[in-house]
Amino acid sequence: MTQDPRSVPAFTFQDAEGYERLMGRWSRRLAPLLIEFGGLAPGERVLDVGCGTGSLTVALQEAADLAAITAIDVVEPYVSFARARSRDPRVTFERADARALPFADASFDRAFSMLVLLFIPDAERAVAEMRRVVRPGGRVTAAVWDTFGGAPQARLIWDVAGVLDPAFERPLFRPMTAPGEMAQVWHAQGLVEVEQTSLLIRMEFASFDDYWSPYLSGEGPIGKFVVELAPAARARLQDHVRRAYLANRPDGPRSFPNVAWACRGTVPDGSRS
Ligand SMILES: C[S@@+](CC[C@H](N)C(=O)[O-])C[C@H]1O[C@@H](n2cnc3c(N)ncnc32)[C@H](O)[C@@H]1O
Repeated sequence: MTQDPRSVPAFTFQDAEGYERLMGRWSRRLAPLLIEFGGLAPGERVLDVGCGTGSLTVALQEAADLAAITAIDVVEPYVSFARARSRDPRVTFERADARALPFADASFDRAFSMLVLLFIPDAERAVAEMRRVVRPGGRVTAAVWDTFGGAPQARLIWDVAGVLDPAFERPLFRPMTAPGEMAQVWHAQGLVEVEQTSLLIRMEFASFDDYWSPYLSGEGPIGKFVVELAPAARARLQDHVRRAYLANRPDGPRSFPNVAWACRGTVPDGSRS
């Protein structure tokens, strides 16, 4: 019996070391920008939804004198990696689903989520959960990559793949990544003082190998796509992506700007409307 392709996730998250080389080194750069946008105050209880290997969690523990930080993720190897990385007694890691948070209403002063909602098909449920567990007056802040227009190092691969195989559907439209979509969902969840913005980091690679080899871990959407190609198709893709990376110059450093959509909103005072 063949598997229903709709039931097969279009990405893999399982190898924490592989994720660190692929994205963790860049999400560390994004974390302080997201914290600055979302705000923090001493003594607060803060939730990190989809902590992965802990880039945002560690940045939160360093950013303010918080009372407590709780970090959750569905992938156990990531949670274990993040737990080993942070020895701060204020930080607690748990395996949990963002769409069914195991916390009472109004347990936190703030919830953050970085680069997670785009991987959750019913991401509105995760936003509703963040709103539920944040106290009135507290804030819900999240970021996702602008996968269509703001991630050229990823588009380079998807676009080459799409040219080599015209039947290939480039996965450029993900939940929450359309312009204004986050703000619309924040409003729909009854959050107020909603603001959506763009956050920019640069991804700098030392060489083509530094750019390409992390995908061979199989992590994330591109990693899964690359390792599942037949060897000849993978070699052909690699060759064309290499030419695009080099752009007729010698191999060496290349820098790509990357833009994340970020949105923040406040839980209104008073009962839920
Ligand atoms: C691109 S990673 C981001 C990790 C981390 N926040 C960072 O910025 O490095 C996406 C994360 O979302 C997590 N994730 C996906 N679906 C989830 C869900 N339903 N509940 C909790 N975490 C989820 C994955 O396990 C993965 O750790």
